[in-house]
Amino acid sequence: MLTLPKNKFQPFFTDLMVKAVHENHVFAGFNVFSLDDAYEIVKAAEQIGAPVMLMVNKLAVGLYPIEIWADTLNMLTRHASVPVCAHLDHTTDIGVIERACKAGFDSVMFDGSQLPLEENIAQTRQVVALAHGLGVAVEAEIGAVGYSDGAGGKDYKAAMTDPKEAGRFARETGVDWMAVSVGNVHRMETQDAVIDFDLLCRIERETDVPLVLHGSTGIKDADMEKLLPTHVCKVNIGTALRMAFGNTLRGEFEKNPKAFDRTELFAKPLQMVREEAEKKMTMLGCKGLIG
Ligand code: G3H
Ligand code: ZN
Repeated sequence: MLTLPKNKFQPFFTDLMVKAVHENHVFAGFNVFSLDDAYEIVKAAEQIGAPVMLMVNKLAVGLYPIEIWADTLNMLTRHASVPVCAHLDHTTDIGVIERACKAGFDSVMFDGSQLPLEENIAQTRQVVALAHGLGVAVEAEIGAVGYSDGAGGKDYKAAMTDPKEAGRFARETGVDWMAVSVGNVHRMETQDAVIDFDLLCRIERETDVPLVLHGSTGIKDADMEKLLPTHVCKVNIGTALRMAFGNTLRGEFEKNPKAFDRTELFAKPLQMVREEAEKKMTMLGCKGLIG
C-alpha cells in the first residue's frame, strides 16, 4: 500500500514508475480532451484506489493553451484522493515542453522518434536537462510506434525498437521512462496488436529504465495482463476512451433525436469513459494501490 504524499508528488510519480516495475503492476496514462473526461478518469481512479496519469496531446493543446491545461489538471490533482500526474504527451517542440514545465506539468514526453538516432539522443538530452532543472520528469521514445490511421502524417516511419539502441538511448539521455515500439500501434479500434514479448525482453536486458507502451488500445486484454511482470511501467490509452465516449454519444443522439442539452447527452458517454478507464486500470493491477 502506498502512502499519498501531502504535497505535489514529483518526484513521487517517478518513484511510482520504478515501483510499478518491481511490484508487478502497470499504470495507465489516458489522453484527455476536456475537464469532462479528465474528471471521469480521476473518479475512476479514486473508486479503485489507483494512481493515474492524465495526458495532454497535440490535439488537446490545440483546444486550450498549455497553461490552462496545467491549471486544470493541477486543480483536479489537488482535489483527488489518489496521485494524479499531469503529463504532456508526444511533443516535438522543445519550446512547448519548456512552457509545460514552467506551467506546472509533472512530466513531459519529448517525441524524437522521427529523428536520426544521434539527433534524438541530443535533443532528448537537452529536454532532460531543461525539465529536470524544473523538477519535471521526462519520457522519450526510441524506435517509432506506428499509426493505424495515418495520423502520424504521410512521411511518418514506424520502426521496431532496437534493443542495443534502447540501452544506449537510456544511458546517454537520462530519461525517466522510455517509450518503445514492440508491435504496439497507435489508434487501433480493435485489440489486435501483436506484441513481440521476446523483443521486449531483449530491451529489458539492455536497460533498467522503466518502459512505456503507446497505442495500448490495440493491445489484447490477455497481453495487457502479461505486461504486469515486465519492465513496462505505463501504457498509454487514448482511442479506447474516445470510442467509449463517441460511440455512446451517437447512441444517445439516436435515442433522443430532439435532445440538445449537453448535460443530458453527455451523461451516459461520460459514464462509459469512467467504466472503461476503471476496467483498464483494474486489468493493469492498479486497484487498491492507494488506501
Ligand atoms: O500517446 C497516446 C497513446 O499512445 C494513445 O494510443 O489511442 O492507440 O490508445 P491509443
Ligand atoms: Zn502515443
